[in-house]
Amino acid sequence: MTSSEQEQLWNGPSGQAWVASQALLDQVLAPFETLLVEAAAARSPRRLLDVGCGTGSTTLALARRLGTSARCVGIDISEPMLALATARAQREGSRAEFVRADAQTHAFEPATMDMVVSRFGVMFFDDPVAAFANLRRASTGDAALRLIAWRNAAENPFMTAAERAAAPLLPELPTRNPDGPGQFAFGSATRVHAILEASGWTGADVRPIDVECAFPASELDAYLTRLGPVGRVLQDADEATRARIMQTIRPAFDPYIRGADVRFVAASWMISAG
Ligand SMILES: C[S@@+](CC[C@H](N)C(=O)[O-])C[C@H]1O[C@@H](n2cnc3c(N)ncnc32)[C@H](O)[C@@H]1O
Repeated sequence: MTSSEQEQLWNGPSGQAWVASQALLDQVLAPFETLLVEAAAARSPRRLLDVGCGTGSTTLALARRLGTSARCVGIDISEPMLALATARAQREGSRAEFVRADAQTHAFEPATMDMVVSRFGVMFFDDPVAAFANLRRASTGDAALRLIAWRNAAENPFMTAAERAAAPLLPELPTRNPDGPGQFAFGSATRVHAILEASGWTGADVRPIDVECAFPASELDAYLTRLGPVGRVLQDADEATRARIMQTIRPAFDPYIRGADVRFVAASWMISAG
């Protein structure tokens, strides 16, 4: 998949799904936001970049926590997601700024960012080495990089349960490519180390973190009908097809239901470099 295909996805079905699911996804991913906000507060950066900031939750939380001493900028390729981020910033009177651009090629002012963070926003580059070299150029010599990314698909069965269950009905679903742009592109620590080293970042530490995520079980159907490869198919499916696929995949999520909640462990990396 090329960068422009990613651009189409995030400006099309994936972007729309994230906008429609913003409150739910921010609830699911809140523990990661806390980790990044704590990491930033410990460094007190003056200029911070949030890469692939999406609908803005992490950028806004960082701006709230760092206050007037820091300039927090979110960059993202998705127009609908940034429109929501900007509206949220206006609503809460935030100083956070948002830029619509491809972080891989954007002409950042050189050597200005003293911290670069991301919550699951760096796995979608067509050329990750070029992207991270671009982020390195945008950063000061002693800048800190703190990224959250998914470990591999096998370690994240919740994330692939829908496509495994739906496979007999949807044989044409795209397979996950561990080296291509996509959710699990940073699944291999060896690959992450190689990307960071080749792009000029030093002292990389790729640490596994297992984070429990939760959301109300009443939101599970909304989650499944919008998100991930099966959700993308269901967005365009007729009523009967959607019902048939939902009936097939729904039992695969029974093991994740705990009382009124859906709970799963997000097998992720906390990636640090300088
Ligand atoms: C999984 S979402 C994460 C969004 C946000 N960080 C969050 O945690 O809610 C990935 C984000 O990366 C953005 N993205 C993908 N490719 C990008 C690129 N080349 N430059 C900037 N943003 C990109 C997408 O538009 C999307 O908003």
